[in-house]
Amino acid sequence: FIASAISSLATDPRLGVAPAAKPKKILVDFSSPNVAKPMHVGHIRSTILGDCLVRVARFLGHEVTADNHIGDWGTNFGILILAIRRAGFQLDAKSPTALEDLERLYKEGSLATKADPALMDAARAELAKLQSGDAASLALWKEIVEVSNAACQRIYDQFGLKTDVILGESFYRDKVDQVYAELAKHKLAEESEGALVVWHDEEPRFSRDAETKMPFIVRKKDGSSNYASTDLATLLYRAEHFKADEIVYVTDGRQQDHFHQLFLTGDKWFKASGRKLPRLRHVWFGTILGSDGKAIKTKSGDPVRLQELIDQAEKLAFEAVTSKNPDLPEAERKAIGKAIGVAAMRYADLSSNRTMDYTFSWGKLLAFEGNTAPYLMYAVVRVRSIFRKSGLAVGQGEEGATDPETPAEIALARKLLAFTAALDQALEELRPHHLCTYLHELAAAYGAFYAADSVLVDDPAVKARRLMLCARTTSIMECGLRLLGIEPVERM
Ligand code: ARG
Repeated sequence: FIASAISSLATDPRLGVAPAAKPKKILVDFSSPNVAKPMHVGHIRSTILGDCLVRVARFLGHEVTADNHIGDWGTNFGILILAIRRAGFQLDAKSPTALEDLERLYKEGSLATKADPALMDAARAELAKLQSGDAASLALWKEIVEVSNAACQRIYDQFGLKTDVILGESFYRDKVDQVYAELAKHKLAEESEGALVVWHDEEPRFSRDAETKMPFIVRKKDGSSNYASTDLATLLYRAEHFKADEIVYVTDGRQQDHFHQLFLTGDKWFKASGRKLPRLRHVWFGTILGSDGKAIKTKSGDPVRLQELIDQAEKLAFEAVTSKNPDLPEAERKAIGKAIGVAAMRYADLSSNRTMDYTFSWGKLLAFEGNTAPYLMYAVVRVRSIFRKSGLAVGQGEEGATDPETPAEIALARKLLAFTAALDQALEELRPHHLCTYLHELAAAYGAFYAADSVLVDDPAVKARRLMLCARTTSIMECGLRLLGIEPVERM
């Protein structure tokens, strides 16, 4: 059975993975950085996990929309616009320093408004002015969003990822009134201290009797919308416009209460209005820790910027490749360093169970041994070099192969057949580490096979079956790596 299953994979571009019997429309909400703040390491997990889930769901035959729900309408704009106006700053979206300027101004504004309540009121007034449609504020806002999106796009390009749509919070600004009206009509929301709130009495923590009053505030007391109203409007749009069967939200674990309340509210609202609620899933993740065991920060206490991490990863990977393979031309070592650098960052995020915190360490990330991207990429390089050496293309030389016989051959062959199960589990639980663990085990099984059994032996039948195992190993490894967003390389 194993022998025929392995052999039949040769002509199957899906490598034995059957597409879903009932394909679903899945919307994945991920990355979703806040505009005007630099993208930091906290957003990296959402971006990388979300992108991987999109790839896996698509491969399994689902119809997926990747939606970047950027924070482009919130409080941060009041602060930033105030700071820009107070500094008399002229924003030029084309200037190469535009983003840095905005970041600096945002930081100044955020310190100033924290220190002075009068300035905080002024920032709120700026936000209200923007949200009520003041033309000058809107023009400035548009330019800020442009600068910020271009900067995010540069990061996405380096990771080789893209979202299908960017429908940020501002897109829903004219869709929140319907939410208020319907929630009030169905008596789900009520006024409380001037705000519009939803209680969930069946959940002790969100009930009106709870000591820590934690209603779901859907409209602030000054009448403005907030994160909750926007998310409710977004939910309706995704159900109606995208006809989503399932919505997956990828954010950090601190937002669990928000999504819990959102899902409860959505459930009651959709039931009351006779709509069908998509399956809602919050894919939350833990914190990336520094070597001190606390959330990773720079020396000055600022959040670590994503671009700095990418640059550092590429530099260290280049150095590692140079020491292993000094004879490769420099341009190739540079290209490999780039590929390994972002691959290692992706893999560090994907390979640990997302609901756990993990400690960031360059040594661990870039090690050529262990459950790391370089190890898996190197496994592919090693298999491919067998074909290169023997002048065969992957998949050639398999005629007359006999059944796997040695313990190492059988163990590897069985591992090869578990690819589907790993993908199913990763998607079912929305935990990409299942796929990483599988690929790591496959690489280890291959390593054991390679150490025990020579491939290019004289006996043609034995050689053929071993070449077949090598070919399947590299096909599945490469497919799996690409589903993680990692592009395999020829040499390392
Ligand atoms: N902008 C938010 C943040 O960075 C994440 C948004 C997640 N998506 C959503 N629909 N709430 O914290």
